[in-house]
Amino acid sequence: MSEPLVLGIETSCDETGVGIVRGNTLLADAVASSVTEHERFGGVVPEVASRAHLEAMVPTIQRACETAGVTLKDVDAIAVTAGPGLAGALLVGVASAKALALSLDKPLYGVNHLAAHVAVDQLQHGPLPEPCLALLVSGGHSSLLRVTDITTGVDPLGATIDDAAGEAFDKVARLLGLGFPGGPAIDRTAASGNSVAIDFPRGLTSRKDIERHRFDFSFSGLKTAVARWIEARERAGESVPVADVAASFQEAVADVLVRKALDAATSEGIDSIVLGGGVAANSRLRAMLEERATAVGVRVRVPRPGLCTDNGAMVAALGSEMVSRGRAPSALDIPADSSQP
Ligand code: KG4
Ligand code: ZN
Repeated sequence: MSEPLVLGIETSCDETGVGIVRGNTLLADAVASSVTEHERFGGVVPEVASRAHLEAMVPTIQRACETAGVTLKDVDAIAVTAGPGLAGALLVGVASAKALALSLDKPLYGVNHLAAHVAVDQLQHGPLPEPCLALLVSGGHSSLLRVTDITTGVDPLGATIDDAAGEAFDKVARLLGLGFPGGPAIDRTAASGNSVAIDFPRGLTSRKDIERHRFDFSFSGLKTAVARWIEARERAGESVPVADVAASFQEAVADVLVRKALDAATSEGIDSIVLGGGVAANSRLRAMLEERATAVGVRVRVPRPGLCTDNGAMVAALGSEMVSRGRAPSALDIPADSSQP
């Protein structure tokens, strides 16, 4: 029997993603984003995102099927992000997936969004090393996960206690007048800046903090420190060296993420790290992680940027793994669980 054809649906935030995979082979990854509709608000507006998912869902499914050269009748299983995410946004994806599963009489797999961010790597680099440590950094989450089995054994080691890493990029970009989403803008601007120009704080790295929050992150103090630094310059009537601030801020974020990820990998005895989430596209973070990990004998896998940001392929990838490992499908009345861990 050929490997199962799995269609995955992602609607946890502002991307309507529909991916189609056969086993570990990516056949289609259609994404419709409502990001421009949120631009003027400086962040994702849940109600706007839900409506955009509703409009984009069917056309995105059709586009994915066309790209993959399949019809819905060919699909063996439907996977969908069941949580965590924005409640109203998740509902659109979960309701759509249930409708497909019911009408096609195919099994439904509700999957965890964070686990899917890790699973996506196997579409590019082949079977996931298990155990591995996952560092997921995006606009909505900053998590360190220990993955023993991607379908059943994903355990959080730590997470942000305030802002997500991507959120910090977006807020600091706003302070610097660089627009939304801020991550790519800071990445570009930082390229011409001096990353050691300003010594911004590294959250939760003091000895006292490490006792309670060894693998947790905090970025809100860093954001405030950047704001204060800019205010002081402006008060003194001096211009703000935007590229230096961007580079120094980016260095501080990358430094903390990499330090904690390597500390977690070493202390757990894990020799592979998978980086995921939108912030994994950051050039400094990728370079620093690869450099420091190599130095301590830890391997790093980073999916290409298009797979790191929210998409349907990651959900299909995890769904495919559920099917091939013989996991039980979800009931057709599964809820959308916005607060899933
Ligand atoms: O995974 P994602 O597409 O959506 C969420 O689940 O949030 O991540 C989006 C986040 C945004 O905060 C964006 O600013 C950030 O990822 N991002 C970056 C870069 N590209 C996207 N942050 C830093 N450097 C980048 N190159
Ligand atoms: Zn995400």
